[in-house]
Amino acid sequence: MSKLQDLRQRKEKIALGGGEKRVQKQHEKGKLTARERINLLFDEGSFVELDAFVKHRCTNFGMEKVDAPAEGVVTGYGKVDGRLVYAYSQDFTVVGGSLGEMHAAKICKVMDNAMKVGSPVVGLNDSGGARIQEAVDALSGYGKIFYRNTLASGVIPQITAIMGPCAGGAVYSPALTDFTFMVDKTSQMFITGPQVIKTVTGEDVTAEALGGAMTHNRISGVAHTIVSNDEECISEIRRLLSFLPSNNMETAPTFDGGESNIIIEELNSIIPDNPNKPYDIHDVIKLIVDDADFFEYQPHFAKNIVTGFARINGESVGIVANQPKVLAGCLDINASDKSARFVRTCDSFNIPLLTIVDVPGFLPGTSQEYGGIIRHGAKMLYAYSEATVPKVSLIIRKAYGGAYLAMCSKDLGADLVLAWPSAEIAVMGPQGAANIIFRKEISGADDPITMRKTLIDDYTNEFATPYKAAERGFVDDVIEPSSSRPRLIDAFDMLKSKREEMPPKKHGNIPL
Ligand code: HXC
Repeated sequence: MSKLQDLRQRKEKIALGGGEKRVQKQHEKGKLTARERINLLFDEGSFVELDAFVKHRCTNFGMEKVDAPAEGVVTGYGKVDGRLVYAYSQDFTVVGGSLGEMHAAKICKVMDNAMKVGSPVVGLNDSGGARIQEAVDALSGYGKIFYRNTLASGVIPQITAIMGPCAGGAVYSPALTDFTFMVDKTSQMFITGPQVIKTVTGEDVTAEALGGAMTHNRISGVAHTIVSNDEECISEIRRLLSFLPSNNMETAPTFDGGESNIIIEELNSIIPDNPNKPYDIHDVIKLIVDDADFFEYQPHFAKNIVTGFARINGESVGIVANQPKVLAGCLDINASDKSARFVRTCDSFNIPLLTIVDVPGFLPGTSQEYGGIIRHGAKMLYAYSEATVPKVSLIIRKAYGGAYLAMCSKDLGADLVLAWPSAEIAVMGPQGAANIIFRKEISGADDPITMRKTLIDDYTNEFATPYKAAERGFVDDVIEPSSSRPRLIDAFDMLKSKREEMPPKKHGNIPL
């Protein structure tokens, strides 16, 4: 056999992964193989594989006889929409995609290379976790990955997809990355599985209920996106990448922004006349951004706040907006965590922030206070204050109390604050305020009900408007809602050259 033939045969064998039977099993579960996923992720023909010949060195429990093609993980680089991206894709057909010393070394090489050249890393996870036969070598492998995840944080975007089981320490690398996708019904994440839980606590729980995609998207907030199958997962990762720069020294790619000067009459009547009536903030977002294209971040978690990426005039922006349809748009513990994390993600990667405000306040109650709303709400204050990207706020209705401040007020460094005439900016709403400051007048009146109504109306006319705030310069301009898109385009264009430095420090100490 010639050397060339030998090379070809070796590569062909490696490409078969764990063999036909295991590939068939993978497909029967509704999952693609590691290589099929890689082929979908990268622009056709652009993937360059590295380390296909790497072998494990384990000799415990018969492992010396186990041939593990590509060491159970396909690694390399290629182009996504013409831009360089590094990736690894665990191969469940090879020793269950389990992670040993050399499997980890391959992933670490991908991360080291991506850091050197400043490209995103995409990790496609499908693994039984630490390779049990490799003991501490496997644990060390995870440790090396966690360390690199942390070094890369805020330098290059790190995207993880959970496309199969993800157990034990394997869940912490995804948690250290910027974005976690989960495939519905075929992926799970947990620190300890159902059997261990049954033994230790006696609880009965299925793997899906414990750590399935919806559990982590809706309840725990560990995952940021749920997708219905592998194909959708990969196409959504490609879409997400289009909103992100390759690293923290660059800006996101720009696109054709379409019509920039457009007046959107619908916005003039989108807020209901009754200030207590909800509406869907998505309708406002979609009217303002390019082509109604909005990539939502954590759409199922803390639905009282909406976060995600869009483009305004072809440029990426991160949007944080209160959702009046859920909890009246109040801020609570989960909403604070979600938005603070999102703001920091945008700031890390030079993505300007648009904050759309309609917030009656922080959610009152013992569960919130005992759960540490003070510490969690403080994350929002911290994240907005330290963000140096262009920050534009649009106050469309309520902006009360601490929540007004937390939603990127002028005092937290908003570069431009615009308000609609429907904005109400004050310490609290008219009803609550009247009960406190007019208590004596109301209780001493001959007709307390009429007196209360009159005083509430007085307060509303005086304070429940944007004009008091505009008089002090906390609002830069009160605008017609229909002109929001051209005004925002203009605002972000004006702020393009913004440069702001924070005081020198090792790192800040965000309340965790
Ligand atoms: C070695 C493993 C493995 C592992 C699976 N395999 N997980 N080999 N180490 N961790 C092997 C199986 O032996 C099997 O080999 C093949 O992969 C496919 O696995 P199956 O069990 O047949 O597949 P399935 O029925 O789909 O079940 C998948 C599974 C199950 C739920 C993931 O394999 C499982 O529970 N694995 C163990 C999970 C776990 O406890 N991992 C350790 C977590 S602790 P053959 O040759 O039979 O095909 C951890 C600590 C890290 O990760 C801490 C870091 C800080």
